Amino acid sequence: MTAPLLEIRGMSTGYNDVPVVRGIDLEVGAGEIVALLGANGAGKTTTLLTVSGLNPVMSGDIVLFGRSVAGNRPHAIARSGLAHVLEDRSLFFQLTVRENLRLGAVGGAGDLDQALAYFPALTPILDRRAGLLSGGEQQMLAMARALATKPKLLMVDEMSLGLAPIIVERLLPVLRQIVDDTGAGVLLVEQHVHLALEVADRAYVLSHGDLVMSGTAAELAADQHLLRSSYLGATELD
Ligand SMILES: Nc1ncnc2c1ncn2[C@@H]1O[C@H](COP(=O)(O)OP(=O)(O)O)[C@@H](O)[C@H]1O
Ligand SMILES: [Mg+2]
Repeated sequence: MTAPLLEIRGMSTGYNDVPVVRGIDLEVGAGEIVALLGANGAGKTTTLLTVSGLNPVMSGDIVLFGRSVAGNRPHAIARSGLAHVLEDRSLFFQLTVRENLRLGAVGGAGDLDQALAYFPALTPILDRRAGLLSGGEQQMLAMARALATKPKLLMVDEMSLGLAPIIVERLLPVLRQIVDDTGAGVLLVEQHVHLALEVADRAYVLSHGDLVMSGTAAELAADQHLLRSSYLGATELD
């Protein structure tokens, strides 16, 4: 068995020395889509920010591509093969789609073409300013920009935020395509539980900073009633 791309080991993290995520263990393997679920405020975004080096590890360790990255700088972590689509998508609204994509590409135009192949809807709007795009187009652009870095691990925070369910239904299979084509791993934070479990191989559930459930997506989907009533807020009932 090959080593996981990402191993979070007994990791605690938080803000101002107050832990909001406590002693969690989580793994993502190559070619695997892993969902991180949990109600608002559970600590999902904080966990991703800590993997990216944007938030400090308080205890435990994060091993990325076989090396501990706790305490490493965000740009060094990103360069090692991690792409992170933040909750706010972090686009440059004044720049065009093409310019936003170029900021992601590491190896020139070939990377852009490859990234665009997953999101053909972006091709006719390459010269449009990112600020003028629809929410779905902006999310595609954020994901295409992340892909242009040829990541070994892609983390996507709340891909579906603000998008119509039909758009989300269209975007999720693209993640599977990316994983199958490139062998990358995906760590997906998602509030639409049933959609996430449709596309994910495995999932973890965070509740108030504690990891309370994990298993294959099929196992968790079979137990969705428990999953929802126990750990996810009423707003996640979709
Ligand atoms: N910058 C911050 N400073 C202090 N507390 C924060 C900050 N960001 C998030 N928190 C707190 O950390 C907890 C986890 O938040 P977050 O990781 O954003 O949850 P989720 O992404 O699961 O909704 C929440 O209680 C939230 O209020
Ligand atoms: Mg969040």
